[in-house]
Amino acid sequence: MKIEEIRKLIEEDKNKVADLKALNDLKVKYLGKKGLISELNQEIKNIPNEEKREFGQKVNELRDLFNNFYLEKKNEFETALLNEKLSTEAIDISLPAVEVVSGAPNILEKLIEEVEEVFMSMGYDVVDGPEIEEDRYNFEMLNIPKGHPARDAQDTFYLEGEEILLRSQTSPVQVRTMLEGNGVTPIRMICPGKTYRRDDDDATHSHQFMQIEGLLVDKDISLSDLKGTIDEVVKKLFGSDVETRFRPSYYQFTEPSVEVDISCFNCHGNGCNICKKTGWLTVAGAGIVHPNVLRMSGYDPEKWTGFAFGFGAERLAMLKYDIHDLRVFYNTDLRESRNFDRKESL
Ligand code: DAH
Repeated sequence: MKIEEIRKLIEEDKNKVADLKALNDLKVKYLGKKGLISELNQEIKNIPNEEKREFGQKVNELRDLFNNFYLEKKNEFETALLNEKLSTEAIDISLPAVEVVSGAPNILEKLIEEVEEVFMSMGYDVVDGPEIEEDRYNFEMLNIPKGHPARDAQDTFYLEGEEILLRSQTSPVQVRTMLEGNGVTPIRMICPGKTYRRDDDDATHSHQFMQIEGLLVDKDISLSDLKGTIDEVVKKLFGSDVETRFRPSYYQFTEPSVEVDISCFNCHGNGCNICKKTGWLTVAGAGIVHPNVLRMSGYDPEKWTGFAFGFGAERLAMLKYDIHDLRVFYNTDLRESRNFDRKESL
């Protein structure tokens, strides 16, 4: 086809083209592989040499002509489309919003953070320890030798033979921290963390649960330091009118050992369902660090004394948030967490 004929055709098409689809078809018609303008390029080899230059220029002009028209129309059609969309798709602001499902902090995690803050304000470090633990840290260096009946009570998960286990308590972190202190550094630490025991899961038991271990080692530490510390922490967590009491108990790694009760913050000692009518709630085990434990971890019991304690984290959270089933902490039902989040902000 001659150049002039194609030029005319372009002008005609320009006046006819009605939408984007037709415009794109024109692009194929002129510039596609077998398009009219593309085919002119094939013809160039049949043109006498002296006319080649002029012919080439004309083909280029034709291509520019088409391209300019194409871009102009494309813009026009797209703007029209957008305007139409804008005028028909008005936003109905009276429609109810789509609810965005958001997460909420886990209640147990939240309680642990609160406890951490209280202890940090008293100069304690928050430390970590491994959940896969060695028998010697979990038991032996806590004064619980192999064959000791106290081991049976902990229903431990053993992983490899008799030496590697899932820690049944966070107390091994006491040993690890003392070993790092090299018998010369005073210690103030808490360690919140997961622990494991071969328990069947029910409302008050779980094969995985959390403890908050604490250890203080320094000079001239007595039971009254322990009592003062626990009392302060409990008041910050449960309210200033809550009282603590110590009952004699027995742990291998503390001597003397105590059980820590707090006065029931719900009934203030009058007796209710939470405290099972006793007026008191047990929240921790504690005591003065046994001289054997200090010695085995490199602290001279003639020079150093200390106290240790272990809170049950779920128990604290259950009391604080009035939860009656421990499994609430371990399911993934966001409604539970959100519920407590709401209660908190009321
Ligand atoms: N580890 C103990 C347990 O799991 C709790 C405990 C008691 C920790 C007394 C202590 C402590 O540090 O002094 O039953």
